[in-house]
Amino acid sequence: MIKIRDYQEGDAASVGRLIADTYSEFNLSFVPPTQLGLFLGPFRHARSEDLSHQQAIAGVIRSAMVFVAEDDGEIVGVLRGRQDRLASLFVRADHHRHGIGRRLVARFEPECLRRGSTVIRVAATLYGVPFYLAMGYKRSTGVRTGWSFDGNGLPVQPMRKKLQGG
Ligand SMILES: CC(C)(COP(=O)(O)OP(=O)(O)OC[C@H]1O[C@@H](n2cnc3c(N)ncnc32)[C@H](O)[C@@H]1OP(=O)(O)O)[C@@H](O)C(=O)NCCC(=O)NCCS
Repeated sequence: MIKIRDYQEGDAASVGRLIADTYSEFNLSFVPPTQLGLFLGPFRHARSEDLSHQQAIAGVIRSAMVFVAEDDGEIVGVLRGRQDRLASLFVRADHHRHGIGRRLVARFEPECLRRGSTVIRVAATLYGVPFYLAMGYKRSTGVRTGWSFDGNGLPVQPMRKKLQGG
């Protein structure tokens, strides 16, 4: 059974692996293997036992709001953000289209409203655009190209949603 809960620091290693794998497969497939590490930043070390690597990963996951989806004790989804910005959202490939992304967003948005924000912005990777459209987000500009850690050239679609009640 899927449970949505607050992230804890002890989740960092499994969240790091989830992000590394999902980001590489769905968002960074255009990047040549020799450059992938630049775009993955600290997540390129998601399977390292080195404490400094693990601390760097925990550091980039940390955010004002982080929620995870857990399936029988295994982390299968993560959403990071702050009151007016959805920073990142990943669901493990074998759990796509089961409503987990929707549930993570449904946990996040009321919390943004509660913290005083009436608009949420997201720089969506192109794979995520149909999902965000289904969640009621709208394109706010054309596609832009941005940085992902030390890698430049990631196409993103800026999107926004005005929250009900805001
Ligand atoms: C985008 C992502 C988070 C969606 O998570 P998910 O749990 O599979 O999404 P849900 O099952 O909650 O989907 C809700 C609705 O969004 C739409 N949707 C989701 N994925 C879609 C896809 N690949 N293509 C078209 N529509 C999609 C559908 O309308 C879906 O409802 P339906 O399944 O009843 O048709 C997931 O595909 C993912 O992790 N992708 C890789 C990382 C990424 O691109 N993140 C977002 C950019 S920051």
